[in-house]
Amino acid sequence: KTEIASVDNLSTKEKGYAQAVDLLKAGETVAFPTETVYGLGADATNEDAVRKIFEAKGRPQDNPLIVHVGGVEEILAFTTYIPEVAGFCIDAFWPGPLTLILPLKPNSLAKNVSAGLDSVGVRMPEHPVALELLRRLKRPVAAPSANRSGKPSPTNAGHVWDDLNGKIPFILDGGATGIGLESTVLDCTSDIPTILRPGGVTKEMLEKVIGLVNESKPTDREEAPRAPGMKYAHYAPNAPVYLIDSSLEIVQEAIETLHKEQKKVALIASEQFQSVAVDYFFTLGKEEQLEEAAKRLYEALRNCDETDADVVLAPVFSKNGVGSAIMNRLEKAASGNWFPL
Ligand code: TXA
Ligand code: MG
Repeated sequence: KTEIASVDNLSTKEKGYAQAVDLLKAGETVAFPTETVYGLGADATNEDAVRKIFEAKGRPQDNPLIVHVGGVEEILAFTTYIPEVAGFCIDAFWPGPLTLILPLKPNSLAKNVSAGLDSVGVRMPEHPVALELLRRLKRPVAAPSANRSGKPSPTNAGHVWDDLNGKIPFILDGGATGIGLESTVLDCTSDIPTILRPGGVTKEMLEKVIGLVNESKPTDREEAPRAPGMKYAHYAPNAPVYLIDSSLEIVQEAIETLHKEQKKVALIASEQFQSVAVDYFFTLGKEEQLEEAAKRLYEALRNCDETDADVVLAPVFSKNGVGSAIMNRLEKAASGNWFPL
């Protein structure tokens, strides 16, 4: 029931874009690639269209959506002003994997986009397909990741199909996404700009441009989740995930313990662990190449569901640079649990 059109293919490209634009104008949803993950888009000014996103994903209504634009000028239509730090970030990082939380102009977007908050998350994606679509449509597009709520975000069109086939009319297929983790979310409405969700644009990169940046810690999030989405369980395969020390010996011992309990084990880890005797091994690439690990993580988590593994082990990464975003997602997938319990 869900149609897929490849835009890498010259003969279907033009038709694909035209169909996507027509569907969005008609108040339907369309999945499309961005440089981070695939998004499920709808016209951000159309409340009925936006409702279809929540329905298809099974997403809680209190979790606001990110609005995507094809040009910077577009944001003036739905924000009251652009804080100075936001201006610097736009110059330095757009188009790119950085979502800015800005003050929302009342009654400018569909109410359900921002879930009743007086702020709105905005970004200009850096993917040629996303930009082409947004520039043809000339309207802001509300788009969360195109997965069923709680699942890892989709990094290729097949993942979107697996989660949403029959629930959405159309997928624009632009191949695998580049970064593989969702955008950094930066709150520009607080006195000190605050990272609500770590991503491809790191704290170090932001501080070079705007000076001091805060990072909301998991404990802050539990007390008062400022990015409402961060309080929900996320990214989890069916089998429980456990974080574990990044040591060959400790991992091998853990697997032996689990095998004695007749449990099958999947290991999601960098190549240095490939010699470990385990039932299923999903590599995240070379240990020092964090960008590569980010790119492969969600597919690895999804692959666990194709196995009969009872337990998933994930040796931890350093939290430097993109490692901070990788660990943020792994901690969520594991609900913070370490092995042994
Ligand atoms: O890379 C991405 O950001 C992808 C692609 C499709 O652009 N989108 C994405 O959207 O990850 P989503 O809905 O899965 O995550 C949006 C996050 C959630 O944690 C949400 O709570 C937060 O951004 N958010 C959105 N609007 C907000 C607001 N006004 N204030 C605080 N947090 C907000
Ligand atoms: Mg999401």
